[in-house]
Amino acid sequence: MYFKQILDERCGCASYLIASRQSHEAAIVDPSIEIEQYQPLLQERGFTLKYVIDTHVHADHVSGARKLAAQYGAELGMHESAKVTYPFRPLANGDELPLGQLKLRVLHTPGHRPELISMLVINPLRSPEPSMVLTGDSLLVGDVGRPDFGGGDASAQYESVTRLLRLPDWVAVFPGHFEGPCGKGMCGRPSTTIGFERLYSPLLHMERDPFIAELNNGVPARPLNMVAIEATNRGAADMPWAMLTSSPSVGEVGIEAIDAAPPNAVLLDVREPEEFAHGHVAHAVNVPQAELASRLEEIPRGRPILTICQSGMRSLRSAQFLSQQGFQDVATVVGGTAAWRAAGRPVEATESASGPLRITDSEWAHAGALTTNTEELRASTSR
Ligand SMILES: [Fe+2]
Repeated sequence: MYFKQILDERCGCASYLIASRQSHEAAIVDPSIEIEQYQPLLQERGFTLKYVIDTHVHADHVSGARKLAAQYGAELGMHESAKVTYPFRPLANGDELPLGQLKLRVLHTPGHRPELISMLVINPLRSPEPSMVLTGDSLLVGDVGRPDFGGGDASAQYESVTRLLRLPDWVAVFPGHFEGPCGKGMCGRPSTTIGFERLYSPLLHMERDPFIAELNNGVPARPLNMVAIEATNRGAADMPWAMLTSSPSVGEVGIEAIDAAPPNAVLLDVREPEEFAHGHVAHAVNVPQAELASRLEEIPRGRPILTICQSGMRSLRSAQFLSQQGFQDVATVVGGTAAWRAAGRPVEATESASGPLRITDSEWAHAGALTTNTEELRASTSR
């Protein structure tokens, strides 16, 4: 067999090429939108692309699955419950896709998304048991996929990872993400084993109720442009430009720039509505980063824009995205609302904001482009 993991550092995503050296048939799982990268891999080894599989409808990056399948005349496979507008081969739990002597067995593992599947890779010449499992965003390294990206369910995730943990210890685990916003505590390694995770993943030692509470509380903000990206991957929209693909340099200003801003400036708070309700700078307008692309017409062009979030990470990404979309005068408020509060400045809260805040500040800065901000780099490398 042939197996290759392809890591996309910008999104923290992994895609996979699996092939039979006997039949030269290949499958690509969770392809990135940059499908050109797969061409030399297939060509150099004389592989024929038979299947393209999306483990689920992705919400943090635009999938290349449809494009790739169309270009190579391959079958596009997804779980039968996937609610997408385009045709695909529906896969059910237990289905086996032959790939020469290899078998790819479908395991339905909902939780992150209802349609999420894991793929067991079986090489019967070596063993009747699977030797590896591609887990999408069910079991991650040191973590599991978050349930709040649309139709997810923490209790289903508990069932799914419990099923995966029944696999033998030696089974190698290859997740859909090694970094990025689909989990909240990934270790950073791109692979692991069932045995190691069973022993050392703190989440997997939890009973059902604490597990569910842990998944539902303290979630990071939804990723940049998630609404547009998810709709694009369902076929309900065509907004591949919603991916941040560049790192334009944008103004980085301190909180004093808020007072000094001209009267027509817009202070754009890109945090989640819940965070905004708990306290925001007066006159700030709330458009969460997840909704920026889908609500772009609400953001006035031709006026200075200051983006603000909690600590400055999301606002930097948002400012870069607006700049990528041709907004001319965009700057990010370094230190964000936290710096504003720390300076003893007043915030406004809405009456509906009661109880503890469920959102934690973004742990990962991934949004389709590498960071150019040195403070952010230092923060991310100190973990
Ligand atoms: Fe995902």
